[in-house]
Amino acid sequence: MTLDPITKKEKLFPTHKGNNEDLLALINKTSQILCKWFSDAEKIGPLSNDHNFKCSVPEELGHSTDVLFSEIESLIYSSFNPVHPGSIAHLDPPPLTISILGDLIAAGLNNNLLAHELSPSISLLEDSICKWFSNKLGFTEAAGGIAASGGTLSNLNALVAARNHSGFEEDKNAVFLISEDAHSSFVKCCLIMGLSKNNLIKVKTDDNGCMDIDDLKKTIDKCYEKGKKIFSIVATLGTTIRGAIDPIEEISKICKDRKIWLHIDGSIGGIFAITKIPINGIRNVKFANSITINPQKILGITKTSSILLVSDIEVLQKTFSTGLPYISTEINILNRGELGIQGSRPAEIIKLWLGLRFLGMQGIQNVLSSSIEKRKFFENNINTKKYLLFSGPLHIISFIPRGMNKNESDAWTLKKRATLMNNNFMLSRPIFKNRYLLRAVLGNYNTGEKQINELIKLLN
Ligand SMILES: Cc1ncc(COP(=O)(O)O)c(C=O)c1O
Repeated sequence: MTLDPITKKEKLFPTHKGNNEDLLALINKTSQILCKWFSDAEKIGPLSNDHNFKCSVPEELGHSTDVLFSEIESLIYSSFNPVHPGSIAHLDPPPLTISILGDLIAAGLNNNLLAHELSPSISLLEDSICKWFSNKLGFTEAAGGIAASGGTLSNLNALVAARNHSGFEEDKNAVFLISEDAHSSFVKCCLIMGLSKNNLIKVKTDDNGCMDIDDLKKTIDKCYEKGKKIFSIVATLGTTIRGAIDPIEEISKICKDRKIWLHIDGSIGGIFAITKIPINGIRNVKFANSITINPQKILGITKTSSILLVSDIEVLQKTFSTGLPYISTEINILNRGELGIQGSRPAEIIKLWLGLRFLGMQGIQNVLSSSIEKRKFFENNINTKKYLLFSGPLHIISFIPRGMNKNESDAWTLKKRATLMNNNFMLSRPIFKNRYLLRAVLGNYNTGEKQINELIKLLN
């Protein structure tokens, strides 16, 4: 057996000897292909028509990087392009430049947020960025948080902690409440937490898509009458279809009176709460026990970037700490794998840290408020006699034509989406209260008034 399996001209791993020229050349070449693809966005459109990409699989012998680069190029040129100004379908904005570097650095370091000894500086960094967020939201010194791979996981971390804190973790009657417009992934949380769909109770929304407080009170009373134990009420700060914000102040009072954990799903709108942007009710997030924030959804921090902040970090520790018998740990050193569901975790915090440092508070505010301005511009210029609009205070707007029955408007959304796509505008077609809508998410920094005017022309 040979201990040196290197038969290719390129090195398999970065080396401790020499200057890693090969790696440098590969990174340079990759950067060039990526940057060219960004610049080609106008030519290609949001979704490529190039269907030449063929999935290859590993073979007995490995391939040279020359072969791989032609495959990489084909993969890239067949991808969805978030940089195109017409890419306004989803909560997937262009990547913030500096966060691309963050991903590269994280990959190169290959540290592990499971344990302090595997990521000493990055563990500290994650702790300090979470504390910074907590402070901005108005939480006390006891607060802290943990990053997770996406909003679904951050919400799951919160719900598991809430149930554990309530002491109802083995109670079949344990339930949590969300609004009927809350994100579909809460159903997954039930599955993972060993709950049935009956443990997920939906509260009605009002005409603006916000949780209806009267219905919330009635629902709570009904739960107690039936012997149910409520371990959390989830308020949504930015609903997926229209960016509505639940009345957090009223919900927090109800939670305080009844000693129920208030979790805020701020996957979309939570980031707005660290700025001075005037949005009704947003300052009340400080009353929550936990909040999810997803900087991947609007600031452009590359996926995945999500954090859960809790008003008392000890709750996460008590919930998730199992001990890590294979990790040597000094007293007073916290292994961050003990704060959430994930074990091994990449250093996602690097790109968030770099993104926040690069933008500064003014830059963050600029990116966020410009997205709201774009939604307002769209709203003020679309023909409201012709279209029924669904929006809130954020950057999301959905619409359907007025005066059509369900079948007609469903067919219209299908046809219109295709027409828009042919004109390089990618909008989404979500289903909402049993009806299809068209939705524009105006968080793409490259989208300007020119494009919004063109879009409106195509709609009018
Ligand atoms: C309001 C809301 N919560 C949670 C999620 C889930 O987030 P993720 O896709 O990062 O898991 C989404 C996704 O769009 C969302 O819109």
